[in-house]
Formats: sequence, structure tokens, C-alpha cells
Amino acid sequence: MPAISASAPGKVILFGEHAVVYGFPSIAVPVTQVRAKAIILANPLGKTGQVEIDAPDIDLHTSLSDLPGDHPFAILFSSLLDRLDIKAMPACQVRITSSIPVAAGLGSGAAVSVALGRAISSFLGHPMPDDQISDLAFQVEKKYHGNPSGVDNTVITYSQPVYYMRGQPFERLRLANSITVLIADSGIQSSTSRVVEDVRLAWQSDSKHYNQLFEIIGQITTQAREMIAKGRILELGALMVKNHQALKELGVSYPELDRLVEAATNAGASGAKLCGAGRGGNMIALVQPDNADRISKSLLSAGATRIIKTRIEPLSNLES
Ligand code: PMV
Repeated sequence: MPAISASAPGKVILFGEHAVVYGFPSIAVPVTQVRAKAIILANPLGKTGQVEIDAPDIDLHTSLSDLPGDHPFAILFSSLLDRLDIKAMPACQVRITSSIPVAAGLGSGAAVSVALGRAISSFLGHPMPDDQISDLAFQVEKKYHGNPSGVDNTVITYSQPVYYMRGQPFERLRLANSITVLIADSGIQSSTSRVVEDVRLAWQSDSKHYNQLFEIIGQITTQAREMIAKGRILELGALMVKNHQALKELGVSYPELDRLVEAATNAGASGAKLCGAGRGGNMIALVQPDNADRISKSLLSAGATRIIKTRIEPLSNLES
């Protein structure tokens, strides 16, 4: 039997992180320059249930049965087998690789779940449709991360720019023109679940203030959707800066992220903000194709450890 493989991209949140957990809208786009990949090879000589996992990027080489029950891979396998009403995995070897930086706001966990869910369900002869794959990745995030909004698994599964609100069908984002974004890594790892939990505790202790901040972020995101649809990039940049300020007030920024945001705007970016959970991870800068290299250099001088340039295209460009 040939090997079965599947992959999924990374993602960035352009607007609305954190507020999206509380029911406000968000805008997220796939980042196809980085990917998670899963390959499954049948082991005809092995016993039923014998699954060997090899994930070199996180230095994990183990049998599925040796993983603790709350490990994301264990949760994914058991929830997938439950859904397909299959008692045990046929013997196989699973290799998981990823070029998406871990704990950096680029959706590495959800991308691994999506790639793995697709590969295993195909290997079992029941390839799952996207809505089920997205839900499977959401269940893993829920058990592992506590209170995810669902934006990561959605944008990564469907691999298209989305306008997303918790509990509602996502909308495909309409763009008038392509948008070029630089994604710069602060080099600091950050735990999404911890930052989301800290925001929850702060919200519980002063819900009036935090609800106001979520409201502001929600309004910025709604306006951003309109500016993206109209191609008004300068105004979009100003909204990014406002969104960063609101995230700073939420307490999820970090001096390194603020420094990178300032470096990008000083070098001519239309706007910049942290992206994802914050307190480390990545930031994004909205640039033009002709100033991208200059802004990239400024970000590197200001301490960025890695830069990814990504271009978000209107649907018509992708279809033609
Ligand atoms: O750090 P990331 O890429 O996992 O993004 C988290 C985004 C939050 O809005 C903070 C949480 C969520 O589940 O939407």
C-alpha cells in the first residue's frame, strides 16, 4: 500500500484576536509558505493498534499507546476513531513534520491536527470532508487549549482568507486588491492557552473595561473588512495600529513586539500589529511590494529572528 500524505498551512490573524474568543469578529488568512505534513505508511507485519509516531521537529518518537491520554495526538486519534466508529488503528507508521514555528501565533497546533486528521481518515478509507476535519481540529484545541474561538482550525482547514465569528459559518473575505504582509518573529515563544487564560482572569476582575476593549477591537475588525473589500490600504494600516494599541491595553503585547511594530511603521509600513495570542510570537506589517525589502531589513535590525512575506490575493486572481 502506498504512503498516504496530507498537509495544512499556517495562518495569521490580521484583526480581532482575543476579542474573537468573546464573540466578536476576526479576520485571518492562511500562510502557505509554511506547512505541517503527515505521512502514514501501513505496517503489514505489525499488530492491530500498533502505531509508531515519528515527529522529529518536536523530538517525539513513540508508540501511540505510550502517549498520555491528554496528548494532542492521542486526543486526535481517539476522537477520529470514535467518529468513524472504528475500534482500533491498523498497524502503521506515522511521520509528522512541520515548518510552522511552534508557539508563535502561526497556528502550528491546528495545522498538525488538520494534516493528521486528513491523512488518518484517508488511510482508514474514510477521507473526512473539510467541515468534519475543522471540527476535529477544534475538539483537539478545546481539550488542549481550553477556550479556543475556532478561528485557527477554520482558516487552516479551508486555506482561504476568512471573516470569522465564533459559532457562525465563516465568510470568505472579499478583497479588492492583493495585500502584501510581512510576518516577523520576535523569537519569543508564548503559550496561547496561558495568555487566553490571563485575559479571561483580567476580564472577570474588570469586565466593564475589558468588554469595552473587545467592543473596540470588534469595531476595528468590521471596518477592516470594509477597507479590504474597497482596497483602501492606508486606512487598513491605520486600523492595524489601532488594533495593536487595543491589544496592548488588553495586556498581551510585549516590549519586543512593540519595538517591531514601531520599526515597521517608521520604515514606511502602512500599519503593523502583533498577531495571535501575543506576549511573544509574531507581528505583521502591511507593506507595498516596492517597500517590502526595506521594511524587512528594518525589522531584522530591530531584532526579528525570521521574516515571511505573504501575499493575499482576491478570489478572482486565484481562480483565473
Ligand atoms: O496564538 P494563536 O495563533 O493560537 O492565536 C490565538 C488567537 C486567540 O484569539 C488569542 C485565541 C483564539 O482561540 O481565537
